Amino acid sequence: MSISSQVGEAGAATAYAPLGAVAAGVGPGGRFPVMPRPVLEWSAEVEAATAHLYERVAKVVPPVEWPFFAPYVKAINELKRERNAVILAHNYMTPEIYHCVSDYVGDSLQLAKLAAKSDADAIVQGGVHFMAETSKLLNPDKVVLIPDVNAGCSLAASITGADVRALRKEYPGVPIVAYVNTSAEVKAEVDICCTSSNALRVVESLGAERVVMLPDRYLAQNVAAQTKVKIVAWHGACEVHERFTAEEIGHFRHDHPGLKVIAHPECPREVIEISDFAGSTAAMIDYVRTKKPARVLLVTECSMADNVAAETTGTEFIRPCNFCPHMKRITLPKILDSLLYMREEVTIDPALAERARRSVQRMIDLG
Ligand code: 13P
Ligand code: SF4
Repeated sequence: MSISSQVGEAGAATAYAPLGAVAAGVGPGGRFPVMPRPVLEWSAEVEAATAHLYERVAKVVPPVEWPFFAPYVKAINELKRERNAVILAHNYMTPEIYHCVSDYVGDSLQLAKLAAKSDADAIVQGGVHFMAETSKLLNPDKVVLIPDVNAGCSLAASITGADVRALRKEYPGVPIVAYVNTSAEVKAEVDICCTSSNALRVVESLGAERVVMLPDRYLAQNVAAQTKVKIVAWHGACEVHERFTAEEIGHFRHDHPGLKVIAHPECPREVIEISDFAGSTAAMIDYVRTKKPARVLLVTECSMADNVAAETTGTEFIRPCNFCPHMKRITLPKILDSLLYMREEVTIDPALAERARRSVQRMIDLG
């Protein structure tokens, strides 16, 4: 599956504003040198330096918007080289981030695994907080930054470590599987993690009659429909995917003959039942790339259809648009500030990180 790719690059040098007297460095322990704030103006030089990047998004970013993005794109690509940093962009990042400044793109788990292979000093997470935590778990010696510390997730927010300890008491001896969309505190309490693409395999690998799956009740229901293992589900839900309905999908099918419907397993069961395929964001992209449907509806967050449409020819994308407000907190200006000031650093208590890492690693070791 080719779900990750290397994108983004720097153009000619940016004109930097004069730097005043600066004493210490920035970031953790003041280890990183202070960098001057770049001048962020649209100019012939910026246009020339970013023209090849605009080509990547020309189908989805109108020309009138590019002069606002381009100065940031150029400055970020230069700054990340200076910092020896990489930018990981989840598939829900907006196209100017996904296609123009990121080094690695993919689903939540792929990003963390890719980061572990990089020799960068710092990782900037284009995604939400639990993803940055997972990156930190797998890259304990690197500085992991999240451009907006408030980029949360309704699933991760639905459960705490204390809730998991209560579940252990309620279901003694029953293995507990946590979706990666959870905090490190929750990962530290469970037996193993799963993603939307490997949830069934993880559940069946445990050899148990009954398994607790948390926190997404819809992912749990969608796994339960495919296995004999009895699933005990937590009550969390993704605020983006739970809004899709079978009725809505039925209307799209009626209005667009020949439509292929591809849904994320965080959608309600009734939506998955009438879809042609269900899988993680990476698996959904792979479906479009390999099957090349004439018309497709990606039942997921809006930016993903933009990102796939930007690089696809011969497929018409029908878009029922549900935004993730948490993902949309990550913007080019915040990524620039993150690299300039080396903030916000993601830290996890080492003892807790050790336990959380075990749950993630156990899943990775399943292959
Ligand atoms: P993926 O791991 O499939 O990218 O899903 C993450 C997510 O947050 C979906 O809403
Ligand atoms: Fe969380 Fe849903 Fe947003 Fe993904 S789309 S980050 S699951 S709220």
